[in-house]
Amino acid sequence: MSDPVLSRQLDHTLAETHLDALGERYRGKVRDVYRQRDRLFLVATDRLSAFDRVLTTIPFKGEVLNRIAQFWFEKTQDVVPNHVLDTPDPNVTVARATKPFPVEVVVRGYLTGSLWRDFQKGTHTAYGLSIPGDMKKDAAFPEPILTPSTKAPVGEHDEPLPEAEVVRRGIASARDWGRIREAALALFRAGQTWCHTRGLLLVDTKYEFGAVGDALYVIDEMHTPDSSRFWRAADYEERLAAQADQVMLDKENVRQWLIRERGFSGHGALPVIPEDVRVQTSELYLRAYAEITGTPLTPVAGDVEARIQKNLQTHGYL
Ligand SMILES: Nc1ncnc2c1ncn2[C@@H]1O[C@H](COP(=O)(O)OP(=O)(O)OP(=O)(O)O)[C@@H](O)[C@H]1O
Ligand SMILES: [Mg+2]
Repeated sequence: MSDPVLSRQLDHTLAETHLDALGERYRGKVRDVYRQRDRLFLVATDRLSAFDRVLTTIPFKGEVLNRIAQFWFEKTQDVVPNHVLDTPDPNVTVARATKPFPVEVVVRGYLTGSLWRDFQKGTHTAYGLSIPGDMKKDAAFPEPILTPSTKAPVGEHDEPLPEAEVVRRGIASARDWGRIREAALALFRAGQTWCHTRGLLLVDTKYEFGAVGDALYVIDEMHTPDSSRFWRAADYEERLAAQADQVMLDKENVRQWLIRERGFSGHGALPVIPEDVRVQTSELYLRAYAEITGTPLTPVAGDVEARIQKNLQTHGYL
């Protein structure tokens, strides 16, 4: 059932961009960011990172991520102002340049993933959390919780940061942290409400916030399969009762494949990812797009950077 367009696109994936005329480039794990004075060009590439390492490229991943983030930014613009100024190409967001708060604002509705692993080891207390000792894997919290973490420099892993520490270390003032936590919880509620209508559960997510003067903006990406977990709602209760893995629409599938098939969890030599796995991963991202937004995406094969260049020219940015 694999779509030939996805296989064909393996030779045209966007590994990196060279749009020097846009400004000074910063290379994140997934995005190439070009900075002008008060705006940024965020180019979502097809790079796949897992466990903080860049492993390979996935056909159409950049487009899917940028389109999903765009979908959410539009949907929630009345809930919290966001950084988007323009989207001249499916892979590109022109954003307001903000002063980022150097903290990953993680909101969780369920006890799963790394927090479940921490809970089993007893190390969840690093977040300053107390969780009932008999809570089951994947069970829902009565109210969503925040587990902020540091934004680690390239090559390092993020560390838990109790909310009190965010203020104590001067990462955000008490007033700003208060605004950030309200904004994060409001966005999460909006995300959960929409996902319910799509038969999905928004399980957890990571936000970043930035300031311009006194104004607060949600920046980077929002509710994408890279930054969030999504489960299928219809299967949730039965799988919870059986303590079986949930049906996942996000990057956790890739992480589990890496652990299971390659014994890789971020350390040592980079594993080689076969083409069929790259195509299946592309299908996963496209499926996530359709399930989240309710509209399928028909990707068009071809040279992504050439198209970006053309669209930026048409919109007067190049
Ligand atoms: N509006 C904005 N203002 C300032 N910085 C932003 C804005 N939007 C996104 N960023 C930053 O741009 C970068 C996006 O790149 P990407 O998502 O690939 O990075 P990452 O791999 O998640 O993080 P890192 O920068 O640690 O590599 C991030 O560092 C993010 O914080
Ligand atoms: Mg990022």
